[in-house]
Amino acid sequence: MYSEKVMDHFMNPRNVGEIEDASGVGTVGNARCGDIMKVYLKIEDNIIKDAKFKTFGCGAAVATSSMATELVIGKTIEEALKISNKSVAEALDGLPPVKMHCSLLAEESLHAALWDYAKKNNIKIEGLEEPKEDIHEHEEEAGCCNA
Ligand code: FES
Repeated sequence: MYSEKVMDHFMNPRNVGEIEDASGVGTVGNARCGDIMKVYLKIEDNIIKDAKFKTFGCGAAVATSSMATELVIGKTIEEALKISNKSVAEALDGLPPVKMHCSLLAEESLHAALWDYAKKNNIKIEGLEEPKEDIHEHEEEAGCCNA
């Protein structure tokens, strides 16, 4: 059901954790399953120097976030914006259709972290839309994420 690459990134996820002095942090929830993802980005001179993630999502969410963080490190903000959940799934040699919604967590949390970076630095990133929902409040209410 899962490709070897998905299994590899699920069993040995890259870039799990947090960045203490992150330039931008994004947290999103998956509307379909209620799972949560948090992405941290370190950005210098418009280049993503480091990316880390934490998730309460399933194996497909772990694998797609692992791959997404691998793909964005070293990229410019503009290049990173072009990385979609579909391109992440392709880089993993595909995901079962029923799990495609999980890969949205990676894309949306990445965008939310870029949005946070833009807000903190008072800049506008062309083509980046405001994240639909800030789930920090719910997160604290639920007490489910102390990251
Ligand atoms: Fe929730 Fe996959 S089932 S992220």
